[in-house]
Amino acid sequence: MTEYTWIDHTYDVVVVGAGGSGLRAALGSAEAGLKTACVTKVFPTRSHTVAAQGGIAASLKNMGPDDWRWHMFDTVKGSDWLGDQDAIEYLVREAPAAVYELEHYGVPFSRTEEGKIYQRPFGGHMQNFGEGPPVQRTCAAADRTGHAILHTLYGQCVKQDTEFFIEYFALDLIMDDDGVCRGITALKMDDGTFHRFRAQKVVLATGGYGRAYFSATSAHTCTGDGNAMVLRAGLPLQDMEFVQFHPTGIYGAGCLITEGARGEGGILRNSEGERFMERYAPNAKDLASRDVVSRCMAMEIREGRGVGPEKDHIYLHLDHLDPDVLAARLPGISESAAIFAGVDVTKEPIPVLPTVHYNMGGIQTNYHGQVLTLRDGDPDAVVEGLYAVGEAACVSVHGANRLGSNSLIDLVVFGRATGLHLGETTRAGAKQPEFDASTGQNSLDRLDHYRNASGNTPTAELRIEMQKAMQTNCAVFRTGEILGEGVEKIKNVFSRLPDIGVSDRGLIWNTDLMETLEFDNLIAQAAVTVNSAYNRTESRGAHAREDCPDRDDENWMKHTLAWCDAQGNVTIDYRPVHSYPMSNDIEYIKPKARVY
Ligand code: FUM
Repeated sequence: MTEYTWIDHTYDVVVVGAGGSGLRAALGSAEAGLKTACVTKVFPTRSHTVAAQGGIAASLKNMGPDDWRWHMFDTVKGSDWLGDQDAIEYLVREAPAAVYELEHYGVPFSRTEEGKIYQRPFGGHMQNFGEGPPVQRTCAAADRTGHAILHTLYGQCVKQDTEFFIEYFALDLIMDDDGVCRGITALKMDDGTFHRFRAQKVVLATGGYGRAYFSATSAHTCTGDGNAMVLRAGLPLQDMEFVQFHPTGIYGAGCLITEGARGEGGILRNSEGERFMERYAPNAKDLASRDVVSRCMAMEIREGRGVGPEKDHIYLHLDHLDPDVLAARLPGISESAAIFAGVDVTKEPIPVLPTVHYNMGGIQTNYHGQVLTLRDGDPDAVVEGLYAVGEAACVSVHGANRLGSNSLIDLVVFGRATGLHLGETTRAGAKQPEFDASTGQNSLDRLDHYRNASGNTPTAELRIEMQKAMQTNCAVFRTGEILGEGVEKIKNVFSRLPDIGVSDRGLIWNTDLMETLEFDNLIAQAAVTVNSAYNRTESRGAHAREDCPDRDDENWMKHTLAWCDAQGNVTIDYRPVHSYPMSNDIEYIKPKARVY
């Protein structure tokens, strides 16, 4: 093996990832006086949070009545009762303060006539404990809310002297013999140098893994690198079977058309011109929760009422809305529709299709951001030194299905909670154990293996097979048979890893090698996802099994924990749902039928 040398760094806290949750955690850590580094694969303001459009949910009551208890009810119902109610209470109670804090940091929110933060309706968010009508709870900066938040948080982090390591690809966690996280390893992509970051605390904020699928609203960088680092460290991922399809990805291109479009009055129609959501969800209609709308669209298409020459998509109409409202509230998606679908939204409908958008599953954490695992029978044992936030984490507030605009609020509430916990539990400059010569050798072995891989199968070939298998066999509607076939297909792709071929042997901007490392990360998550889905024999939230169409609270009101070994074998265990709130201010929200 080539000799590689390490460049060592020491920080109190290292955050991996510079999206909304990573920056908010880094900011909290730096504000607490901790020496903080942020290691990121892309320039911070290119992180995928930049693409979040419609808004951030908080019961501010700026545009009508609202209550954090209603927000809690909607989130529990949206999660199909798989969300942990203590964590959900924390989320919704902290949400208004977190949004006002963003406002004070400088986020340029859209405004009401009175100058308050503008709020729009979003799917599944209702007044009166789900009774309706829809509530205006989603705070927006036009349809570029993530962009506004990300740029503001980056500026605040720079102000607080967070040190950024930009275009560094995180490789592995450094775990000691007691299972405590001591740092990470990374490759600097532009010069091929290798880095060990020693830290008292590591925060994984590496986002989702939408790119395990063929068509996703996620950026190409969304390869779940932190999730895979956790799997390689022998820790489990939670609830990976729950993959969200956003109802309105642009047909063919996959780009997101925000749910805010329906919040502003947009409607879905089938080939007969029918507003079909009135039939399926008479109360919430087009603003039912995402899993419900996506399934209804799929059913319309399946029953021959899709639009277009192949009757394989649906129309989203905005052409009945005031062009001034479209220009003020939805400028970004008006432009996307023109560029990617050739449509003038003031005159024509946008062709749309449910598209992979979000991973409810991820790294198990509590609401302080601490990573948890199943140890000695304790399903909530803390992994010392390790935190996770954002889409990489599974707190779990979204359970089996996330409500739109609950992602941005998850990022900042739990990013902030993590920063607070880091501040309370970390002593600035405390002495840390030394690394020895073998620390990080596993990362070098893996990297060297792929760098010199001389098999016959290009990475792109295996990646497309994985993506197509996930798209076909782990989609909106599932059956045991289709999922079982998916398990075999992913196993087959995994088994061909030893035959992978990388042609660039360099270390400077070796995109062939980077994509191979990303694919290696993705395939482990694909294996965990499809196996967890095959294993769960009920329907809940985004996991809709036609062979087991009902929710089965007696047997399945529990979280899946899944481990994956180096050969792609997946092991499954469970953790109870936290069926208790955080305080006595609200009672446990009991399960009931989920209708909109
Ligand atoms: O539709 C959207 O704007 C997406 C929001 C979200 O996923 O929270």
